[in-house]
Amino acid sequence: MTDITVADARQERPDYPIDRTCPHRLPDGYAALRAQGPVCEVKLYDGRPMWAIVGHAAARAILSDPRTSSSRSHENLMFPVPFPALGALNEARPLDTALLATDPPHHSARRRLFAPWFTVRRIATLREAVQTVVDDRLDTILAQGPPAELVSDFALPIPSMVICQLLGVPYEDHEFFEEQTRRRLDPVNGDAMLLLNGYLDRLVETKATRPGTTPRGLLDDLLETHVKDGNLDRFGLVMFAQELLIGGHDTTANMLSLSVLTLLQHPEQLAALKADDSLMAGAVEELLRSLSIVASLSRVATEDIELAGRTIRAGDGILISPMAASHDESVFEDAEEFDIHRTNLHHVAFGYGRHQCIGQNLARLEMEVALRSLFARIPALRLAVPAEQIVIRQGMLAGLVALPVEW
Ligand code: HEM
Repeated sequence: MTDITVADARQERPDYPIDRTCPHRLPDGYAALRAQGPVCEVKLYDGRPMWAIVGHAAARAILSDPRTSSSRSHENLMFPVPFPALGALNEARPLDTALLATDPPHHSARRRLFAPWFTVRRIATLREAVQTVVDDRLDTILAQGPPAELVSDFALPIPSMVICQLLGVPYEDHEFFEEQTRRRLDPVNGDAMLLLNGYLDRLVETKATRPGTTPRGLLDDLLETHVKDGNLDRFGLVMFAQELLIGGHDTTANMLSLSVLTLLQHPEQLAALKADDSLMAGAVEELLRSLSIVASLSRVATEDIELAGRTIRAGDGILISPMAASHDESVFEDAEEFDIHRTNLHHVAFGYGRHQCIGQNLARLEMEVALRSLFARIPALRLAVPAEQIVIRQGMLAGLVALPVEW
């Protein structure tokens, strides 16, 4: 990497990433990074020097730059791993991924195969099914409470059930895959991804050999089209299933619990939202922007890149902060203010460029249906503990450990 040694970096560069104290406000420590400009020199937990991208234009430029790679498997390239647990996961990772950690032309070819199932129009056909899942959860919460704990009773089961229905995975297995999703980030449990992979491999095998014996979904569609036509092999299908199963429940679950907390902490805006449903789509977008739950997107430079007056050398590691980019004051006025009336919605909470989240239309649909129904059916919803007692989950995805509520 550029002329700076790990020892130099340990002394001079700010630490990255920086823990949140409030879920929707950029931590104060980013001011010191911003002073360097949109492209900053930082160091990771292990002292390794990296580039951090904290400006909106620079983030979009890097995320759409063909001279970057998302692959973890380059020899001699310093893939940036922002947390120790992820480092262990990458080292133990026996498996490829379907999209996230791949580069063109492989990535573009795969993405073209899967994209038609995730268009706005296709996802809109799931609205009724999502509404049924949400209504069932709220029936249970209302029958059992008050009080309730909204992470385990609401935020986690809704996206879990929805992704099961979409893929054709039996929901009765949810505890298994939710647990493996949590365990995969625990370095002591390096077998989580293998277990998940084995489970999905057996499910795909059952679907192929005994059609109709498991719930029908996207995995069946892909088997009958792209696998049958030879465009996708079984391994590729299992990898995609794994990426969707993990990406499809963990992210949206964290967004839902943090969204409920954020709205409860802004009662005037919540009242406006309850009174005028046309504000809902903008509110969802502002929740995505202000919370930007993914801590960092990782890339490696494959060639020298000049950006905002800095030279990123081939082989350098780059970490893009969706939150810092989506809170860039030069693009978003009063960026630290949560404002559901905001009209500039060009956040990068779903990334940007070729890896931009394939599931974003589904995430938006789930958030919209879940938040609308929750506040319509439990209008008196309030926190059951002082807000200071609610623990923010740090790490790769911001979230909540628990959200106790009453009404
Ligand atoms: C609010 C919830 C979500 C957030 C904040 C989120 C965020 C992101 C981000 C930032 C990326 C880009 C990663 C990169 O550039 O390295 C991404 C990619 C991805 N997301 Fe999401 N996501 C969410 C929901 C979902 C859902 C519901 C699914 C599945 C149905 C999903 C599946 C994926 C997949 C497969 C990719 C990889 C795409 C590619 O590499 O081409 N995500 N997501």
